[in-house]
Amino acid sequence: MEIFHNIQSFQEARKRLRNDKKLGLVPTMGALHAGHASLVKQAVANNEVTAVSIFVNPTQFGAGEDLDKYPRTLAQDCALLESLGVDWVFAPTAKEIYPEETQILFALKDLDKKLCGATRPGHFNGVIQVVSILFHIIRPDRAYFGLKDYQQFQIIRQMVNELHFQVEPVPCPIVRESDGLALSSRNVYLSGPEREQALFLYNTLSTIKRKIEDFQTASDVKDFVHHTLAQYPLAKLDYFEILNDKNLGEVDSLTAASNPRAFVAAFVGKTRLIDNMALY
Ligand code: PAJ
Repeated sequence: MEIFHNIQSFQEARKRLRNDKKLGLVPTMGALHAGHASLVKQAVANNEVTAVSIFVNPTQFGAGEDLDKYPRTLAQDCALLESLGVDWVFAPTAKEIYPEETQILFALKDLDKKLCGATRPGHFNGVIQVVSILFHIIRPDRAYFGLKDYQQFQIIRQMVNELHFQVEPVPCPIVRESDGLALSSRNVYLSGPEREQALFLYNTLSTIKRKIEDFQTASDVKDFVHHTLAQYPLAKLDYFEILNDKNLGEVDSLTAASNPRAFVAAFVGKTRLIDNMALY
C-alpha cells in the first residue's frame, strides 16, 4: 500500500494506471471504524485499484464545531486499510488542498434547506467543495458513500449528475453496533451514560418503523418522538423529519407508496449524532 501526502506524488501513480483498470475511491475523514471498512471492502471487491482519502476537511465544519478535537488516528487507519487490501491512501494536509483562502462557493437550491443543511449552515458547501476537489485529483471511476449520511449522498449524486462528473457514486448500507447505534467517528466522544442514551436515535427510529401502521400522520410520529425524548435526559433533539427517500421532498402520507424515511439528529451531551431509516 502506498501513502501519499501530496497531490503531485499521488498523480504520478494515478497516471501510471492503465485506462482499462477501474479505480474505486472511498472518501473519509479518518478515525476509521467498521462503517468505513464496509465501504472499503465493497470498493476492493469491485475495482482493480482502491484509493482511500483521509482528510479532515476544515471547510465543512462550522464555527464552534469539533474541527480541532476531531479524532486523528492516521497510523491505525493505515494499518486497517492495508489489511483490507487498499492500494493507495491519499492523506493530504489542509495547505495542500487549500493553499489559499477559497473564492469558489457552491450554492444549493433546495437539497440543503432541510435536515443537516438547515442546522449546519455552510456544511454541504464544504462537502461538495472537497468531494469535487478529490474527484478532480483522484479521478475515480466509482466512489463509495455510506447512507448514514443520507442527505450527503443525495447531494453528491446530484452534483455528479448536474456537473457531469465521470464517476459513479455507490450508496452503501448503514453499519451498526450490535445494539443498533450507527457507527460514527464521533462515538468516541461519548461517556458511558451518554453511550447508553445515544440509543435514543436507533430505538426511536426502529420503534416508529415497527409501529408505522399505528400512526396516522407525520405529526403523530413527531409527538411520539418528543414523548420518547423524556426517557433520554442526556439527549437534545436537533431535528426529526419524515421525508420522501427518493428526493427528500415532503411526504403527504405515511404509506409505502410515498417512500417515507425518518431522519433524526440529536446532541447526546455535546456530541451530535445522526441516523435515518426507511419506514417500509
Ligand atoms: P466520514 O464521516 O469519515 O465518513 C466517510 C464515509 O463513511 C461517508 O460516506 C459516511 O457516510 C460513511 N460512514 C460513516 N459511518 C458509517 C456507518 N455507520 N455505516 C456506513 N457508512 C458509514 O462523510 C464524511 O467523512 C465526509 O463528509 C467526506 C464525504 C469524506 C467529505 O469530507
